[in-house]
Amino acid sequence: MKELLKKMTLKEKIGQMMQLSPFFFIADLEKEAAGPIRELDLNQEKIFSAGSILGVGSSEEMVAVQKKYLSKNRLGIPLIFMADIIHGYKTIFPVPLALASSWNREVVKTAARISAIEASSSGIHMTFSPMADLVRDPRWGRCVESFGESPLLVAEFSKAMVEGYQQNDLKKTGNLGSCVKHFAGYGAVEGGRDYNTVDLSLQTLHSTHFAGYRSAIESGCVAIMTAFNLFEGVPCTINKDLLQKVLRDQWHFSGITISDYDSLHEVISHGVAENSKDAAAMGIEAGLDIEMASTCYINHLETLVNNHQIDLNLIDEAVLRILELKKQLGLFENPYKGAIPSAEQTMVRCPEFLSATKKAATESAVLLQNDGTLPLSTSQKIAILGPYAASTKTNGPWSWHGYNDNNASLNDVLLSRKIPVVFSKPADSLEEYTDHDIDRIRQADILLLALGEPENWSGEAHSRADISLPGKQASFVEFAATLNKKAVVLLQNGRPLILDNILCASAILETWFLGSMASEAICDLLYGIANPSGKLPMSFPRSHGQIPIYYNALQTGRPNTNETHPQEYVSKYLDSPNSPLFPFGYGLSYSTFHCSNLCLSAKRMKENDSLVVSITLENQSPIDGTDVIQVYLGDPVARISRPVRELIAFRKISLKGNEKTTVSFELTKKELSYRLKDGSLVTDPGKFILYVGDDPNQLLQNDFFLE
Ligand code: BGC
Repeated sequence: MKELLKKMTLKEKIGQMMQLSPFFFIADLEKEAAGPIRELDLNQEKIFSAGSILGVGSSEEMVAVQKKYLSKNRLGIPLIFMADIIHGYKTIFPVPLALASSWNREVVKTAARISAIEASSSGIHMTFSPMADLVRDPRWGRCVESFGESPLLVAEFSKAMVEGYQQNDLKKTGNLGSCVKHFAGYGAVEGGRDYNTVDLSLQTLHSTHFAGYRSAIESGCVAIMTAFNLFEGVPCTINKDLLQKVLRDQWHFSGITISDYDSLHEVISHGVAENSKDAAAMGIEAGLDIEMASTCYINHLETLVNNHQIDLNLIDEAVLRILELKKQLGLFENPYKGAIPSAEQTMVRCPEFLSATKKAATESAVLLQNDGTLPLSTSQKIAILGPYAASTKTNGPWSWHGYNDNNASLNDVLLSRKIPVVFSKPADSLEEYTDHDIDRIRQADILLLALGEPENWSGEAHSRADISLPGKQASFVEFAATLNKKAVVLLQNGRPLILDNILCASAILETWFLGSMASEAICDLLYGIANPSGKLPMSFPRSHGQIPIYYNALQTGRPNTNETHPQEYVSKYLDSPNSPLFPFGYGLSYSTFHCSNLCLSAKRMKENDSLVVSITLENQSPIDGTDVIQVYLGDPVARISRPVRELIAFRKISLKGNEKTTVSFELTKKELSYRLKDGSLVTDPGKFILYVGDDPNQLLQNDFFLE
């Protein structure tokens, strides 16, 4: 690639560093460039020097754009097509927060694999996924795109996604290059308001928020996207400490860096650059290779080089990385890689893929409450009420290519299975039901209440200050009680909600947005064809005042050791327990699982030894089921304050009815270690406490010493 670089003019090099949408290659700019587009100051020459494309509609569009581009590109350097393939392309998988609830690495990997196969059939080469931002504030709309609040879960599922997309072979058709995002700490926006300020210490970044990005990089992802927010007062997109010290020097990342949408230009709004020329200089000096959707580089880098204000070597290094990526992706050999209209038609949403997303959906739902009403019997008469009673909008945010129209509603699925549905009518509030409707509802044995958030209430720029159930939805549950009927709440939502006003329901099934086969999966779960096995990847607060609330909080100087009778001067609220309503790691099953006999292979461990932790898991019911054993570590004395407990290992185990097994984990120094603010990994000798089990409210405890 170095030879190719030598042949390139400065203008051609700078073009490679710009990413545009396909619109610019298709539109007649003279006529259509108005408003903000005119302000981009682009002309045909600049456009046809771009290096990559953001978002493409179909294989036809990809071929048309690439062909037109190559016909005008002097050196025949193909475009890379990148897009947001977040949880599926046409076959939509559960949203990432739901996938994380499966606590199943294979499920997450398969979702990424199938997304890659489908998306690459439309000529897409790279995806802006995984989103490895750790989240702690359910008001933030982008929780839905995350894997939740645990560094371990975020790291494990980011890894699974990168492996699923790339399969260690970028050249192969059917694989996508992965771009992890948003570096760094975007999940910590203050007040959960999207695009807001972030103020995190380097210590917290290294020990907590970096886990996902680091893991994606260690798994070989080829690109990283910078975040909209600040780090120590400097926007991440131009932050040398992040892009050089951490990324290149400490993590030895050799892939490309890319801005978020317009985020290089937005450093002006952040108040650290006066104009787009300054922004361009700051971006290149920090090590930003590609500018997405804004035009600071294309319009100013040439002047900056010619005026000796920036070093040409910086541009050469960035362009070389971009060219190398194009080579790795096999685009010089086949610029139209993957774009096969016939494959796009036949391969997508095939039965195999739909069955994979159904499996993912059944594993991603979380049973929050059940008084024994679930599973239902097929003879019980059903009424379906609530805003989503007939909804097919189960895909959730970031699923542009997967049409909700292809999805079945719960009502459709129940009827196709000959379930006696005596009433089904969507309504935002009870007042919409007539007396006649209520007479019919009375005939039902069970009221299925389809409640929660509309599909567009989470995702980017969709934060909420109030995360209660919208409108008067809680009154559906009270209504069921007044009719003396059992209420089964089916919740759809893209974040934890405050559910204190629906706890009188007989059952609550958290279904998030489960994708293309959501209704089929929910129906299987309702009737016991599938047994719920999901566990929460984020804590559900009791009230807004508890936010942020997360399981791995640090120790305080005045811990509240007795929630029921707290002392006066301890860390507590006067009007609420500290604990969440539904904790991280929580989720019920139709089976009755019991954990006992937590054993350690030794009470003392040397630094280079390993320790085996085992626990007996027994299914005390006749119902086959799947459970998750979670291992948490407490490090009571370390050189910095450590979380009261931190998830260090987990395993999903299926047991037949009345079956019993021993689940073992081998712990090494790695599991006991944590990061300091310089990024180094350390362990401190002394006592460690293990908390192990399947229910975060009832973990078994044991301890050992590290010598
Ligand atoms: C989002 C990114 C996304 C990009 C491209 C931005 O607004 O923050 O997550 O990858 O757009 O669509």
